[in-house]
Amino acid sequence: MSFTIAIDGPAAAGKGTISRAVAAHFGLAHLDTGLLYRAVGARVLTGEDAEAAARCLSAADLEADTLRSADVAQAASKVATIPQVRAALVDFQRAFARRAGGAVLDGRDIGTVICPEAEAKLFVTASAEIRAQRRYRELLEQGAETSLPEVLADVRARDDRDMTRADAPLKTADDAVIIDTSEMSIEAAVATAIAAVEARRAPDVAS
Ligand code: DC
Repeated sequence: MSFTIAIDGPAAAGKGTISRAVAAHFGLAHLDTGLLYRAVGARVLTGEDAEAAARCLSAADLEADTLRSADVAQAASKVATIPQVRAALVDFQRAFARRAGGAVLDGRDIGTVICPEAEAKLFVTASAEIRAQRRYRELLEQGAETSLPEVLADVRARDDRDMTRADAPLKTADDAVIIDTSEMSIEAAVATAIAAVEARRAPDVAS
């Protein structure tokens, strides 16, 4: 039996951490779908065509250590507006979602477009200021030279592009549980997410 958990939300809201913890808790495979778009973005930055790159991604592309940089994040958000790029990545994500034993996928359109039939859907969010602070700390730890205002501007630009694109924009699925992590510790956010999934897993016994 497969059980799909869809976790969506804007950049740096905590969905990566929550997704990994939820997957570990329930013993499920996890796919960070942002990595697919980042891998395409990284190849576009080297001069490749976006659609061609999306059609022939390999496992090695997903392991490149440049994928977490700010430049690649912006390139990912740009290639993600191209319908042909999104279409090229759909089958892989849907097959992953339906793998035996179940899976957790995180991204922007998992609960709305990739797996509208997912058994549990979470929408993880936080204020743009808090998300920028978190991303700023991460970038400093990676040794990047940047400033908080620059990171906030990047977060807002990416939010705007991800939410206003015509194809599969970032939005909350009607049946998603919204978790605002602005004022939450990581532990509290993970516990809230696990409780929300438990409630969907056993609707007959949840009180
Ligand atoms: O989750 P992330 O920050 O690694 O995602 C990078 C970009 O990829 C994001 O700005 C938009 C795009 N993306 C998308 O359009 N759909 C997804 N399911 C995941 C990511």
